[in-house]
Parts: sequence; C-alpha cells; structure tokens
Amino acid sequence: MAEKYPDKPFTRFFGFFRMDTVTLLTPEAHKFVLQTRAYDFTRPSLSAAYKLIIGDGIVFAEGDAHKHQRRLLSPAFSLAKVKSFLPIFVDKTTKVMGQFDELVQAGPVVFKILPYFARLTLDAIAQASFGIDLNSIEDDKSELVLAYESIITAGESTLEFFAFAFLPGWKYIPTPYNLSVRKAHKIFDATTQRIFEEKLVNSDRGGTNDKVTEISKARDILELLAKTEDLTVEQIKNQIMTILFAGHETTAGLISWSLLTLAKHMDVQEQLRAEVRAAFPDGLDQIGNPEQLDSLKYLNNVTRELLRVNPPVITTSRCATKDIVVEGETIYKGTDINISIKGLNYSKKIWGSDADKFDPNRWNGRQADDAYAYLTFLQGPRICLGKQFAELEFKYVLASFVARYKFEEYVENQPIDRKFLVTVMPMDGLPLRVSRAE
Ligand code: HEM
Repeated sequence: MAEKYPDKPFTRFFGFFRMDTVTLLTPEAHKFVLQTRAYDFTRPSLSAAYKLIIGDGIVFAEGDAHKHQRRLLSPAFSLAKVKSFLPIFVDKTTKVMGQFDELVQAGPVVFKILPYFARLTLDAIAQASFGIDLNSIEDDKSELVLAYESIITAGESTLEFFAFAFLPGWKYIPTPYNLSVRKAHKIFDATTQRIFEEKLVNSDRGGTNDKVTEISKARDILELLAKTEDLTVEQIKNQIMTILFAGHETTAGLISWSLLTLAKHMDVQEQLRAEVRAAFPDGLDQIGNPEQLDSLKYLNNVTRELLRVNPPVITTSRCATKDIVVEGETIYKGTDINISIKGLNYSKKIWGSDADKFDPNRWNGRQADDAYAYLTFLQGPRICLGKQFAELEFKYVLASFVARYKFEEYVENQPIDRKFLVTVMPMDGLPLRVSRAE
C-alpha cells in the first residue's frame, strides 16, 4: 500500500468484525499518532487480552496515569543504570555458553536455540530489575519459561487466545490450550508473589497487606514502585509481570531471529567474528565497560541492521478517541490504527530499492535519517522503556556467541513456522546447526 499510494498518510479498510481500521504508511503519520497527539490515541479494547501475558501494568495505563508510572519507572532503566548491568549480562551469557560448549564439544550439533536465549534473558531481566536470580538457565524445565512457551508458541491459533480472553465462559472449557493458559497463570502469579515477598522479607516494610507504604531496603524497580503510596500489592505484582515479560520475550526472539539471519549470511557472520575476536582476544567475559562494544564499527552496523530487519514486535495498535485530521485526511473517533513497525522498517521510500535486503553496510556513516525510519522500539512518550537495556544486552550476547560459535541453517532455507502474539516467535524453538568456530 505504501508503494501504491506513496503520498497518502494511511490506508483504510475493514478489520476484525468489520471494524473501521487504518494502517499508517508514512513516517509523518506515525510521528503524529505516536508523538504529536500520542495521548489522543489509546490502546484498542481488543488489546486488553494481552493483559493475560503482559500484566495490567504500565503498558495499559493511559493519560496521566501513564505519565505518572513512566516517571516512576524510568530511573530504573536510565543509561547509567543500564551500563551498570553489564556484569549481569556477562554472568548469564557465560553460563549459557558453558551449556553450548558441552553440546558442541564433539562437533556440530543441531538444536533449538530459542529456549537458551529465553532463559538467559529472563534471568538477566529478573536479576537487573529485582535483584533476584530465577535460576532458569540451570533449570531446563524452568516452569516459568515453559509457561511463557505454552501461551506464546503453543496452540494452533491466536484465536484460541482471544477466545480465552473474551468469550464468556470459554476459559472454563478444558481444552488443552485453555488448561495450559490457566496453569501458566498460576505460575506467573506465584513468581510475582515470590519476587514481591522475597523483597518484603529483606525489608522493614510498614503498612497493610494491600497498601504498600514502605519497602525501605528494597532496591531498583520495587523500591521505585514502593515509593508511591497509591499502588496496591496487586498493581505492583502486575508491574513485575510486565517487566518480566517485556524484558525477556522480545530480546530472546530478537537474538534467535538474528542468529538465523547471520546463518543465512555467512560473510557477515565471519566479518563480525573477526572484528570481535580482534578486539577481545581473551574473550568477551573480560570486557571492562560497554564503551568497548560501542567502538566496534561493524558490530554497531550489524546490530542496527538486525534490529531493522527483525523487529520482534512487528505491529501494534491504537484507537482514536476523537475525530482527528492527519495530513489532511480525517481519522474518525473509534477507528483502530495499525502501527506497522515492520512496514516502516522495510519502507523503500526511506531505505531505497534494496530495503528488503540485509545489508549492515547501509549504516556506514549514517544514523537513520529520521527517528521514525526505524520503529523497532516505537517512538514518542510510549517508546520502549527497556530500549537501552535491550540494545546493550543484544549487542553483548550477539558479539559473545558469534565470536565463539558458528551458526548455520541445518537445511538451506529451512522452513520456519511462526506465531504472532505480541511478538513474532518461531513455533519450533528455531533449530540451527551450531559448532565451535575455528
Ligand atoms: C529487543 C527488545 C525489545 C523490543 C523490540 C521492544 C519493543 C517494544 C515496543 C515496540 C513497545 C511499544 C508497544 C506499544 O506501545 O504498543 C515497547 C514497550 C515497552 N517495553 Fe519494550 N522492547 C524490548 C525490550 C524491552 C525490555 C528489555 C524491557 C525491560 C524493561 C521492555 C519494557 C517495555 C515497557 C515497560 C514498555 C511499555 C512502555 C510504555 O507504554 O510506556 N522492553 N517495547
């Protein structure tokens, strides 16, 4: 549509149940919806289903409540704070590399890579945000990881998920998918409760059980959340759920898809390996500070290009709360808006005729021409809270694994079944052929 109507800000069509829907096409229209008039566009009612996985935290707050929660949580993910998390990324990566070493010691092995990165990123976000080691890396039957897996990559259809969320009475029918969502929910609840209580035990908390007034020795996000007297225990647990989900599923998907991309582009993989090895001859666990990664030009180009071509969240949506004119065209109140993250990342108008091609060299000497050329973390007041966290974690993990291992497709153009529920994930855990790189 963007190619057919290059001058139009959006295209209009009927969505689910003939709902009036538009897909934004230009960077300007995205900027208008995401920044200029961000608070006139709210989340559409259907997206409430995602509360089942993401938790009813900041992602679903609107208007002043959103601004308030954003102010509260932002210091926990400031650049300075994120840089201080580097030893956590080193520790979790070293542990998973120990497992890879065992798997490949006798030669190349085909195995599913996604579960390893899901456990790595989950333990990293829990440690960084709540100071708690969930130990999922060591436990390959980690209930929490399996719970996310059962909701996100299991099930024949995303429709089952929406039926669970919205069809009255449906969730009580004991279909296999419903049973796994119910079980997963108990596990999410037990985990957030555990994190909450572990912090409380280590603190001199005053107040009642449903209103937190003080968590004096708690750190990081819980400390920040506990400062607000108006948050109930339930609301804090929902924010914990949000951080755990948003902080790991996206990055795990990104790392896995990116290794597949590099398996399809061995020349890039080899050039990257050579650069990283030259910079870190004794291994990346010897890294002193994040700036050492920033100075690697090719690594920077490759990570930006991987973020452009593999956005884990390919689309998100908003709903117009009033009639609003966008570049001379009216979007009417109640219209659903598709924000096409992947569409914009692949825009030929922005990236030229080879926009579909994976080419790290396109980043030589340039940032994206416009912040809205590259929407992987979105933009505006709802830009991803963990953007800097995810960027550093991704860069470190990618550099470490590519330096030590070679990743190949196990058959050329291997078929991949995908499932889209918030993030796009490989259904089969993404098997690749892995070996120690020479
Ligand atoms: C590669 C990794 C990641 C990607 C691609 C990603 C992408 C996104 C996107 C597209 C949104 C906007 C969704 C919308 O408003 O419709 C978002 C929001 C958010 N992300 Fe991320 N994310 C990543 C990692 C993380 C991490 C590590 C955290 C850790 C805290 C995180 C926390 C959040 C939160 C809390 C929001 C809601 C922000 C708000 O509404 O104000 N994300 N993310």
